[in-house]
Amino acid sequence: MALPSINPTTTEAWHKLQSHFETVKHTHIQEFFAADENRVKDMSIVWEDFYVDYSKHRISNETLKLLLDLADEMQLKNAMQKYFEGDTINQTEGRSVLHTALRNPISAKVFVDGKNVMPEIFEVKHQIKAFSNKIINGELRSHSGKTFTDVVNIGIGGSDLGPAMVVDSLAFYANHLKSHFVSNVDGDHVNEVIKNLNPETTLFVIVSKTFTTQETLSNANTLRDWFLKHAPKDAVSKHFVAVSTNIEKVKAFGIDEANIFPMWNWVGGRFSLWSAVGLSISLAIGFENFDKLLLGAHKMDEHFKTTTFENNIPVITALLSVWYNNFFNAESEAVIPYSQYLNQFATYLQQGIMESNGKSVDRNGEPINYQTGTIIWGEPGTNSQHAFFQLIHQGTKLIPAEFIGFTKSLHGNQDHQDKLMSNFFAQTEALMNGKSKDIVISELKAQGLSEEKIKKLTPFKIFEGNKPTTTILIDKLTPESLGKLIAMYEHKIFVQGVIWNIFSYDQFGVELGKQLANTILKDLQGENTKNRHDESTSKLIRYYKSKLV
Ligand code: F6P
Repeated sequence: MALPSINPTTTEAWHKLQSHFETVKHTHIQEFFAADENRVKDMSIVWEDFYVDYSKHRISNETLKLLLDLADEMQLKNAMQKYFEGDTINQTEGRSVLHTALRNPISAKVFVDGKNVMPEIFEVKHQIKAFSNKIINGELRSHSGKTFTDVVNIGIGGSDLGPAMVVDSLAFYANHLKSHFVSNVDGDHVNEVIKNLNPETTLFVIVSKTFTTQETLSNANTLRDWFLKHAPKDAVSKHFVAVSTNIEKVKAFGIDEANIFPMWNWVGGRFSLWSAVGLSISLAIGFENFDKLLLGAHKMDEHFKTTTFENNIPVITALLSVWYNNFFNAESEAVIPYSQYLNQFATYLQQGIMESNGKSVDRNGEPINYQTGTIIWGEPGTNSQHAFFQLIHQGTKLIPAEFIGFTKSLHGNQDHQDKLMSNFFAQTEALMNGKSKDIVISELKAQGLSEEKIKKLTPFKIFEGNKPTTTILIDKLTPESLGKLIAMYEHKIFVQGVIWNIFSYDQFGVELGKQLANTILKDLQGENTKNRHDESTSKLIRYYKSKLV
């Protein structure tokens, strides 16, 4: 059954939020603090090993109440039930959205077309477990009898970003296998990776839900050709495995049926790392750790499903994002993890968030007259402090930011950890409080500057403050806590899609460019086509070709 279609701007809560916005839009967060001594207590959530403080936002209790009313009016509770129960909420593609089922315990029952899918999920989990154990412990060996040393994940989009991010984030838990990721159709990518590989001891994992993706198939073919220059033809079956829904196409590529890890069309690419798409994760950190990642995500699913909205981390973070996106007209959001391990986290989130909610047509197929998908970006602190923080602190744009930190470091160097975390706390404090004119003047006076110099410099040294941030403080970066964090964002995406009345689980927007690239490829490869392009594109193509001769 479909989700209802309600234009959020026609709800009572939206109207009230609009007039409420007019009354609070200039209020400084400090004023909200001054008016409410319970603010931190009321605007923070402690759940398991997560402490989420959202008190440093441009909201009052009234704002929060109205945002929660909006969620009710948009029938969020009902939509959540449909999401978890496998209703066809990906209506435009006629599919359920069941990545949550992948991290369920075996006792759960989830039905797709009247069939409980949990047994097949566990069958594949056993396949992942058995295969990764055997590769890691050397039971499964290369064609020449050697233990594997390297694993290459060949995929793109959801078949790359999730596994690549998790493998990188959990590098602390990695075993002896070296992981590599080849995604870009840019041949320089695959060739750079090849430079570090020994064909005799490398395992290739081709990940493609459809097994039709140009980038992945080109890279897989190039790697197979390279491999076959160093190994006999029948060695392919020992060195190449695939994860796909398209069994026939995988077999046609030359991969044994026994080496195919199935997935299902009710798992969207950008939410698929919990399926066999996560095989590279299981190989890199072991199945037990992979399972802990799934357990963490399942715990977040339960939190999301069962917690009242006012204490529900994905619901609150999603509503805050709607507040800035639709009322303050903020264009983007930053995610700043204070962990170098989470170097790829924002890149990973970009696909999840922007491919899902970058839509301009509502669930009735009507053009939308309000803002949807936020632009997401970020880099780890403290590096990002020395890169783009200037703009967040003193630029003209409002950029709400989520700060993610861990109380314990993995290698246990407390001096570094204290320095890292002092920056983590200082930044959100500075963003909120800023620095007033009076303080700037007294600081400059203390430096012994002349009256004239002080007058000149003061405007540049003032920090307005009032920049909103959420602090997500987690005990430690573990497979389980990472699973929770990723699932938190998955549900945040879902909630925003419900509020914005859009279909979050299709991605037709990536199709047009792919189609045109196929047409242009024919022009580039000299098939003498009669393809018509606009003036600019035709000239660019001619210029490109002229440089090749
Ligand atoms: O970028 C579009 C997309 O369809 C993503 O949603 C998906 O993750 C990616 O391409 C890769 O697709 P596949 O796994 O079928 O190769």
